Amino acid sequence: MRIFLSKILKLTAAMGAGAFVALAGPLSAEEKKSDGGKYVTADGTPTYNVQSDGTVDWYTFSGFRRYHAECHVCHGPDGLGSSYAPNLVDSLKTMSYEDFQTVVINGKQSSASSVMPAFGTNKNVFCYLDDLYAYLKARSDGAVERGRPAKREPFPEAAKAYEKECMG
Ligand code: HEC
Repeated sequence: MRIFLSKILKLTAAMGAGAFVALAGPLSAEEKKSDGGKYVTADGTPTYNVQSDGTVDWYTFSGFRRYHAECHVCHGPDGLGSSYAPNLVDSLKTMSYEDFQTVVINGKQSSASSVMPAFGTNKNVFCYLDDLYAYLKARSDGAVERGRPAKREPFPEAAKAYEKECMG
């Protein structure tokens, strides 16, 4: 939102107040850009990208793999939920990136029999929070079908460097 608002304000100041309405459309929150193969929305929130032939970005593919290694045992395959844990495809329709991070890092427990573990010290999760979010957001928006994405972008250099540093 920060980038989005400052852009609008600058443009509005430069072009007069009337420009606000005209420019609000093209600069919508749906706008995304790639930063070395990592896709973010206008306000810098990690997101997914799916090309017309179904190729997903690296982070979304990585999120699929991490999800099925660490989360699906409780949340069900493809984020669809189980009798034990909620459907995350639904949760991410309304849950913000910040709230997602908070829950995964700190855990959540709404009753004695409903426990989301804290993953704040699990590097296999902690280092891939953006990947998990991008994948689940793509599922939530209906951009990625159930199952393993067939095609993906190459492993970006920036992601290799980050992984090395984070995993230690
Ligand atoms: C041991 C089982 C278990 C595992 C493993 C697990 N979760 Fe959960 N998760 C839960 C339960 C149970 C809840 C509901 C907690 C409550 O009662 O509020 C939950 C809640 C959540 C929520 C909040 C959903 C909402 O609508 O409030 C998110 C987000 C979430 N989990 C993400 C993940 C991710 C990402 C992973 C993998 C890194 C993961 N979980 C692994 C059991 C699990």
